Parts: sequence; structure tokens; C-alpha cells
Amino acid sequence: MTDLYAVVGNPIGHSKSPAIHRAFAEHTGQDLSYDATLFELDSFAEQASAFFDAGGKGLNVTVPFKLDAWQLAEVLSKRAQRAGSVNTLMQGKDDKIYGDNTDGVGLVRDILQNHEGKIAKKRVLVLGAGGAVRGVMAIILAEKPKSLMIANRTVSKAQTLADEFADLGKVSARGFEALAGQQFDLVINGTAASLHGDLPPLPDGILADGAWCYDMMYGAEETVFNTWACQQGAAKTMDGLGMLVEQAAESFFMWRHVRPDTAPVIAQLRAQLS
Ligand code: ATR
Repeated sequence: MTDLYAVVGNPIGHSKSPAIHRAFAEHTGQDLSYDATLFELDSFAEQASAFFDAGGKGLNVTVPFKLDAWQLAEVLSKRAQRAGSVNTLMQGKDDKIYGDNTDGVGLVRDILQNHEGKIAKKRVLVLGAGGAVRGVMAIILAEKPKSLMIANRTVSKAQTLADEFADLGKVSARGFEALAGQQFDLVINGTAASLHGDLPPLPDGILADGAWCYDMMYGAEETVFNTWACQQGAAKTMDGLGMLVEQAAESFFMWRHVRPDTAPVIAQLRAQLS
């Protein structure tokens, strides 16, 4: 019987996950169906439970339900525990609901494998201190950067996050203006500012020679953050399309125990964007 999967969110019409997972299934010869399903805002647990009760095998969870999914999961992976949110659910053979978060792995694999970059020993700056950043912190720190600074509009949120992850590496927190005079080798934008075409108020001169910049957002056009990065002399800019496909691949692997080839899917989505 064909196994059922879906991505759930609200809104959900824009999601590229069905196209990604159907491509993975086709390339790996897996018999599955994958849909995008709109969940009502106030009853995530009931809707997700109904999906699994009806025989559904796995869910990807997107905005605004990642915290609800974290609460619903009966067994959390270590990285989901640390992330404080879940983007992948599956029902185990023991009928328990398992929760994982594949966003951090998606980001790091995109930087390390697809772009052949390095995080180890680099001075890393992360912009933003919301759910998107919390979701990737532990996996970035596992790469052993020289230092990791979190800059956020609301400094107290950056400090809370820095304290929470201090056991995993050298993490500090600042406001944007306090970045002046410092330099970084890798800057990752995880603020929601890009969603509205805004740019965090970053001082000039914070990119070290040869610095790379990564925007967790992506679009048909270069993101505002990546335009800023080019103007500031970044050696390389990357957007979040690769992260999107890599996090999906990690979910697919969790569900099917088969690792799909991501490069053709990234290329296909990039071509469709432009
Ligand atoms: P997400 O799940 O996308 O991370 P979130 O948890 O609401 O969403 O976090 C949004 C992040 O983007 C926060 O770090 C927010 O800064 P504040 O903590 O100060 O609110 C940041 N953000 C949103 N709009 C921004 C803007 N225009 N300039 C700078 N930072 C912005």
C-alpha cells in the first residue's frame, strides 16, 4: 500500500515540500504520496493525531506549528529537544509519535557539502534569536566554530539563547549596533526581517576578508541581506534554498531509511524560481 506523508502549516499553499518529496520518491523508487495540508490554527494535536490514526506515516510541520509538534511528540530526538521545535513527525512501530528537527542539519549540510564551506574554527555571527535560530544553534556549535555570536534587535532574547547553548561552545550575545568594530568569517541571517524585505541595521565593516554570508531565506531575486553582503565585500553569498532541500532529505531519510540525492532537486527548484 502507498505510504502517506504530508506537510502541514497555515498557510500552506506556497510550500515546496510536496515537489521536493515527490522528486525524492521518484529518484529513489519509494512508493509514497506526499500532500500539502492546511491545518486549522487552534487544534494541531487533534488534526495530527487524526492523520496518524488514519494510517499516515509522517508529517513535516511548518509555521506556525513547530512548537505544537514538539509538544505532541512522545519521543524527541536529542536535536529536537535542543531546538525546542519539531519539523518532522513519524509514527513508530510502537505506535508512539516521534519528533525530530532537521533544520540545523539542513543548514550545515548545505554550507559544508553543497558549498564546500567550513564552520570549524570560524568566527560565526548569527542574526536573529527566534525559533529559526534556536533550531540550528546546536548543530552549528557541533561543528566547533571558533566563536558564535548572536545579534538580535531584542538583546535579551539573544542573551537567553546564548546562555541556553553555552554548554556547547563559546556563545555570546549583542545588539546590532554593538557589532561595530568586530569581524566575522561567516554571517548567517536567521531574522524574519527578510520576509518583509527588511535588513537588520548592521554596521559596515563586520565582514572579515573572505567572509561568507548565508541567508536562511530565499527567493527568485537575491535577498536584501545577500545584496548587503555583496556590497560589504562578501567572498560568497548563499540563500536558504539548499537548506530547504537538505532538511527535507533528512526527514525523508528518517522516514524511509534512504538518502536521496539533493543536487538535482536543488537545481530543479532554482530553475523554477527564476
Ligand atoms: P522565526 O520562527 O522565523 O525565527 P520569530 O521566532 O518570531 O520567527 O523570530 C523572528 C526573529 O526575527 C527575531 O529574532 C526578531 O527580532 P526580535 O527578537 O527583536 O523581535 C527578528 N526580526 C524580525 N523582524 C526584524 C527586523 N525588521 N529587523 C531585525 N530583526 C527582525
